[in-house]
Amino acid sequence: MAEYETILVERRGAVTLVTLNRPQALNALNSQVLADLLAAFAAFDADATQGCAVLTGSDKAFAAGADIKEMAAQGFADMYGTNFFGGYETLTRTRKPVIAAVAGYALGGGCELAMMCDFILAADTAKFGQPEIKLAVSPGMGGSQRLARAVGKAKAMEMCLTGRMMDAAEAERAGLVSRIVPAADLVEDAVKTAATIAAMAPLAVIANKEMVNAAYETTLSAGVQFERRLFNGLFGTADQKEGMAAFVEKRAGQWTGK
Ligand code: CAA
Repeated sequence: MAEYETILVERRGAVTLVTLNRPQALNALNSQVLADLLAAFAAFDADATQGCAVLTGSDKAFAAGADIKEMAAQGFADMYGTNFFGGYETLTRTRKPVIAAVAGYALGGGCELAMMCDFILAADTAKFGQPEIKLAVSPGMGGSQRLARAVGKAKAMEMCLTGRMMDAAEAERAGLVSRIVPAADLVEDAVKTAATIAAMAPLAVIANKEMVNAAYETTLSAGVQFERRLFNGLFGTADQKEGMAAFVEKRAGQWTGK
């Protein structure tokens, strides 16, 4: 298993657990974190033994944002010329599901990174916010777009304009997180949820992820078409035959990923 500077990666059966590990900076996201995440998620996606990933941080912080110390001296040409946060778009193209397990602060780029995952499980200690305006900037990793889609314009606008944080209960009410779990159980619960997903037929997992994501990129009729094409396509898989036969025969399906 590869060693990384700023993250820890371990396999728990078919689940890859990725832990942000810059405790001295509350997991602030610098260029090395991005490079490590890109390498780890590319390896995860390419590994047929792995079916779902969990991305988590520490009890105190999932991530307190992009690394302000790294960004402070950059000029427009540096940020625009290097497409400073552009690499995160690659991360969102991971084909297999990634669950964000968030405890403590998920601020700025930390909130944005959590929202790039397929869904967010929150500890009761989680706090979400886009405080960039206090630094005289704005979200830069997709926060204004993904937060608005997740919680609607009113809350997204208020959070971006005031920097106010949302606690876990508000985040759940607003639809930003799928569930809240006690902080002590967060990682175990996320890994268990990921194991449930990893035990499904792999092509169906990818198809389900693709079609839900399409809902954010298309019109309703185009999205429904896209769903139906993928749904119909799954009838060309051996696992569909096995899944439906297993149901009729009252046994568990055995997947081949074909
Ligand atoms: N970048 C760099 N370092 C950070 C950091 C960040 N985003 N957040 C925290 N740290 C560092 C602190 O500087 C501090 O380091 P030192 O011990 O060397 O001083 C260490 O982590 C611990 O932080 P605090 O002492 O501040 O801890 P706290 O418990 O008092 O406060 C906090 C916690 C409220 C999260 C506070 O750290 C904070 O406000 N952090 C910044 C949050 C922020 O503004 N995030 C947005 C960043 S910009 C961005 O993300 C752009 C984008 O959209 C891509």
